[in-house]
Amino acid sequence: MSVLIPFYPHPVVPVIISFNYKGGVGKTTTSRVLAQGVADLPELNKGKPILIVDLDPQANTTRRWQLHRINEDGSLVPKDHPALMEDDVKHSSICDLWLDVIGVREKPLVPVPYETSNPLIHVIPAHEELMAEVMRVPRDEVVKLGRNMRKWLRDPALAEQYCAVVLDTQPSKSSLIDAALASATHAYIPFVPEPQSVDGVMSMIMYAGRYIKERREQQNDVPLRLVGLLPNMVQRTRLHNQHIKIIRDHEVFSKYLMPVKLHKLIGYAETDDWRNSPDQVTALDNTNIALEAKKFVKYLWNDVMQDAEILGGGA
Ligand SMILES: Nc1ncnc2c1ncn2[C@@H]1O[C@H](COP(=O)(O)OP(=O)(O)O)[C@@H](O)[C@H]1O
Ligand SMILES: [Mg+2]
Repeated sequence: MSVLIPFYPHPVVPVIISFNYKGGVGKTTTSRVLAQGVADLPELNKGKPILIVDLDPQANTTRRWQLHRINEDGSLVPKDHPALMEDDVKHSSICDLWLDVIGVREKPLVPVPYETSNPLIHVIPAHEELMAEVMRVPRDEVVKLGRNMRKWLRDPALAEQYCAVVLDTQPSKSSLIDAALASATHAYIPFVPEPQSVDGVMSMIMYAGRYIKERREQQNDVPLRLVGLLPNMVQRTRLHNQHIKIIRDHEVFSKYLMPVKLHKLIGYAETDDWRNSPDQVTALDNTNIALEAKKFVKYLWNDVMQDAEILGGGA
C-alpha cells in the first residue's frame, strides 16, 4: 500500500463514477439505486451516509432530491442551504470546487452537502450556469479542475464522514467528465444491450483506459479501476441476449461484463419520482426488482471494498 500511494497513508473515501457518453442508459437511475441500496443496507454503510454528486448540468439527480430552484432567466441553481443563510451566496454546488479556475473567486470553496429525505443520503447539486463556465475552461486549465476535485475527495475528513461518494455524470465528453475521471477511484458503465450502445461501450472502455493508465503512472494518487459494464433496461428479447453475448464472447471486453444486470422494470422509473412511496426499489421486499437491485448493489460494493487496503481502510 505505501508503495502505491505514498501520499495517502490515511483512509480515502471510495469515489464511484457512473459514466457513459450516451444519454438515457441509466447513469442517473443506477447511481440512485446504488446510493439507496447502500443507505438501506447497514452491513454495507456501517452507519455512515453516502454522498451523491450531480455532475450533469441537466441536473436530474438534483431535481430528484428536490434541491433546485429555477432562476428568473430559466436556469437551474441549487436551492438555499440552511447552513449558508448568512453568506452572500446562500447555496452550494459542486462548482464551488472550481470558482478559482473560472475566475469567480481567488480560492475555491469546499462544497457543502445537502441533506435529503433519506438520512443516509446526502447530495451535492448541479449548477447549470457555473457548469457551462466550467465546460468553457481552456484545455490547458482542465487539469486544475481534476486537481481541485482530487484535493477535496482525498481529504481524510470526507472518508471519516461518508462511506462512499457516487458521481452521476452527463452524456457527453466534457471537462466535467475529465475532472471526474481524474478523481474517481472506481468506474462502472451502464449500457443498454443494443447495437449502438455496445459499440459505444467499447470506446468508453478505451477512454476510461487512458485515465486508468495516467493515474497508474501518477505515483502519488490512488488508482482508478473499472469495475465493469452494467447491462441495464434488459429485456428478455433475442436482440438483448445477442448483444450481451457479443460482450461476453469478446476476447478483450468480456472480463468487464458485470455478473449482474437490471431489467427494464417500471419500478425503476416510478422511483425517479420522490412523491412515490416507497421511493426506492430496495424497499419493495421480496420482489424481483428489489432482489436484482440488491444483487447489483452488493456486487459493486464488494468489488469496491476489495480495494479497502489501497484506499487506506475504506468504509
Ligand atoms: N432498468 C430500468 N427500467 C426501466 N426504466 C429505466 C431503467 N433504467 C432507467 N430507466 C428510465 O430511463 C430513463 C433514462 O434513464 P437515466 O438514468 O436518466 O439515464 P442517463 O442518466 O444515462 O441519461 C429514465 O426515465 C429512467 O427512469
Ligand atoms: Mg443522467
